[in-house]
Amino acid sequence: MNLFRRIKGTQDILPEDSIKWIVLENKIRVVMQKYNFSELRTPIFEQTELFARGIGQLTDIVAKEMYTFQDRGKKQITLKPEMTAPIIRAYLENKLYAQSQLNKIYYIAPLFRQENPQAGRLRQFHQFGAETLGSSAAEADVEIIDLALAIYEAIGLKDLKLVINSVGDAEDRVRYKKILQDFIKPYLKNYCPDCQRRFDENPLRILDCKNETCSNLNKNAPKIADHLLPESKDHYEKLKNHLSALGIAFTENPYLVRGLDYYTRTVFEITSDALGAQNAICGGGRYDLLAEELGGQPTPAVGFASGIERLLMVAEKQNINLSDSQRLNVFLVTMGEKAQDESLAWLKKIRNTGLRAELDLLSRSVKAQMREANRQNAEFVLLLGENELHNKSFSVKLMDKGEQVDVPFNELINFLTIQSKK
Ligand code: HAM
Repeated sequence: MNLFRRIKGTQDILPEDSIKWIVLENKIRVVMQKYNFSELRTPIFEQTELFARGIGQLTDIVAKEMYTFQDRGKKQITLKPEMTAPIIRAYLENKLYAQSQLNKIYYIAPLFRQENPQAGRLRQFHQFGAETLGSSAAEADVEIIDLALAIYEAIGLKDLKLVINSVGDAEDRVRYKKILQDFIKPYLKNYCPDCQRRFDENPLRILDCKNETCSNLNKNAPKIADHLLPESKDHYEKLKNHLSALGIAFTENPYLVRGLDYYTRTVFEITSDALGAQNAICGGGRYDLLAEELGGQPTPAVGFASGIERLLMVAEKQNINLSDSQRLNVFLVTMGEKAQDESLAWLKKIRNTGLRAELDLLSRSVKAQMREANRQNAEFVLLLGENELHNKSFSVKLMDKGEQVDVPFNELINFLTIQSKK
């Protein structure tokens, strides 16, 4: 058995790439904080029942994709496939509603779904997202959409498309379900087995089917937006008006229903043509009934989640630079044991100024150390040997200028801070 093989659908984020993640995560956090969202971190696994009840038994996630196992205490555990249900669980369990009527939460987390891996579809992937808990106002929906777009803008992503729809509230859905079933029934035998299974309990999901025959049959289906009661209709109109007022372009897709069952009223996706089949970098919507469905107090809520791997794919296609901006400032080359003994103390002083500094840990020859300093594109190379120790001064090579100067020990820090471009 080859032990050097990662599990299918997972990725190692290597040092050359992890820096992009760090830069990206920092940008996400800065915007989240501007919008006054606070981070909530939840465990990597939860009781299976939380997701089964929260996301819906008939969804692909719960029916086919969860990593579920029994632990040694015979409890059914699931690696979290999404964050909305855990956030609501944590909100209810920790009674966050008692501290504040409105809670604005964000997260960055790894998630697990046993899907068929392909470009942009992994078994362990990562999302960042935000949830506003406690408000039913359309303004909260708009703030969530605006927040997602503000993050993409801070990253520099271009040409994204926002698609919206309203799936109504519980009452709208009962009425629409019947209208939709009446439309589908005569053709039901032509639909795929998944859709036939969904017909009784969850016909709305039939609208989301990617099967070509099904989507052709769906082309003339009645639109839920045409059947909303005044309150939901008003909510949807407000959403659209606010988006327009903010200058946020959107298109309506009357058949957008999303793959999780908890949505009420607003649903939306943000897509990029830079991606292939898996073109959604973001999905979200309102889920006013989820807290109650999990046995908690009624809490209107709205949120979004965005796939980080997909976002990075778009960034790469669009040549967006997410690399580390600080280069290596100092490489300290030592000659002889005495110099080596003093090198760590010098490095600490240099690093304390905020400069990035490195030394040789492989006892290499001076020539090899110089080569390494070059390879790492150091801004300055400091030479410390017998002579330098004796004269109490460093020989400093300014690599960009190709010059070499002697800098007394007591002037070194000053010299570096003034000379460095950082
Ligand atoms: P979702 O549509 O299942 O929604 O996932 C949101 C985003 O996560 C997708 O648009 C995609 O970018 C990314 N994603 C999903 N599955 C994978 C995968 N297997 N590999 C790579 N990326 C993936 C949710 O998870 C909801 N919790 C969103 C939400 C938050 N609704 C309300 N609040």
